[in-house]
Amino acid sequence: MSVAITGIGSLLTNDPELGTITDAAVVFDGDRVAWAGPAARVPAADERVDAGGRAALPGFVDSHSHLVFAGDRTAEFNARMSGRPYTAGGIRTTVAATRAATDADLSANVARYVREALRQGTTTIECKSGYGLTVEDEERSLRIAGEHTDEVTYLGAHVVPPEYAEDPDAYVALVTGPMLEACAPHARWVDVFCERGAFDGDQARAVLAAGVKAGLVPRVHANQLGPGPGVRLAVELGAASADHCTHLDDADVDALASGSTVATLLPGAEFSTRSPYPDARRLLDAGVTVALSTDCNPGSSFTSSMPFCVAVAVREMGMTPDEAVTAATLGGARALRREDVGRLSPGCRADLVLLDAPSHVHLAYRPGVPLVSAVWRAGVRLP
Ligand code: NIG
Ligand code: FE
Repeated sequence: MSVAITGIGSLLTNDPELGTITDAAVVFDGDRVAWAGPAARVPAADERVDAGGRAALPGFVDSHSHLVFAGDRTAEFNARMSGRPYTAGGIRTTVAATRAATDADLSANVARYVREALRQGTTTIECKSGYGLTVEDEERSLRIAGEHTDEVTYLGAHVVPPEYAEDPDAYVALVTGPMLEACAPHARWVDVFCERGAFDGDQARAVLAAGVKAGLVPRVHANQLGPGPGVRLAVELGAASADHCTHLDDADVDALASGSTVATLLPGAEFSTRSPYPDARRLLDAGVTVALSTDCNPGSSFTSSMPFCVAVAVREMGMTPDEAVTAATLGGARALRREDVGRLSPGCRADLVLLDAPSHVHLAYRPGVPLVSAVWRAGVRLP
C-alpha cells in the first residue's frame, strides 16, 4: 500500500541532497519513504493526501526521556518557583512512588506520555529507567519501557537510593553487578547521572565501563547542575551522547568538537528549574553535533513537547530555527545512532509531521501554538 502526500508547501527532508523543497511531495510505501521531491514529479501511488500548502518535516526524535515513573512533583515545582533551588534529591520522591506502583500503572503512564508526545509529532522516543533503583524495580522499569519503545536506557545510576546513603560504593557495585546482569537484556543503552549529589567521575566511569562490557552503549547525564568530568568522560568512552551540557568550559567544548559524541541539549530542564540555558551557539560554532530533546520527567522537565523545546532553544540558546528543528529531528537520530529516522530520504522510516503553517520556522515563530496537524509513524497516520 503506497500513499502520496502532495501539495506540501515546504518540505524539510534533512537529506543532504534533497534539502528543503518548496511545493513538494512525499511517497510512502508501507512503513518506508519511497520518494521525496517536487510535487510536479510525484510518482503514482495507491492513495493521495493533499497537504494544502502546509509544511512537512521528519517526525521528531526525542533522544532523552524518563517516562517510567509514578506520582508527580507539583509541590516541588511550586517550591522551586518560590525560590527553592533544584537538586538531584527530588528524584528520591519519585523513586518511592514508582516502587509502590503496579506494573499496570507504570505501563499505562508510559503509554500516556508516549501518546502525548506522538500527538505533538514525536515518532521516536528514548526512555530511561532510574526511578526503581532496586534490581527488581530497574528490571521491570526497562521491561515496561520496552513495551512502548525500542530505545531503552538502563539508568540504575540515577541517584544513590536512601537505603545505600551510608555506602554509595556498595550501590555502585550493585549497579555494575547483579542489577546490570538483570537489566542488560532489556536495554540498548547505559546512562549515569554524573553530577555532584549523584555519581562522581570515578563512579560514572565504573558504571559505563561495566555497561559496555555487558553490550550496552553509553550515554551520559553530564554537566547539568555545575561543571564536572561528565562531558570529557563521555567523549573519552565514545558515548553516543552527552546530555544537558549546561556548564561547559573550553576543554569540554574542545573534547566534544574532536570526538563523535553528540551534545544533547534539554531546554525544558533549564526552563523548569529556572537555570541558565546551555550555549548551543558556542557548540555549533565549534562544530559539535547538537540534538534537542525534552528530558520529559516529573522533576526537572515535565514536558513531552518537542515544539516547545525548539521554540525555547531558538529564543534562549542562540540557535536559528533551522538549526533547532534539525537538532530536534536529525540531531536526535544521531544521538541514538539511527540512520532510519530523523530524515525523509528514500528507505527511511515513514515518519512525517504536517504543520498548520507554511514553514517549519513557525515552530519557533509561533511558540505555544499547537501547529502539529497530522502525524504519520511508520507509514501509519495517527487517527
Ligand atoms: O535529566 N538529571 C537527572 N535526571 C533528570 C531529573 C530527574 C528528576 O528530577 O526526577 C534530568 O534532569
Ligand atoms: Fe534526564
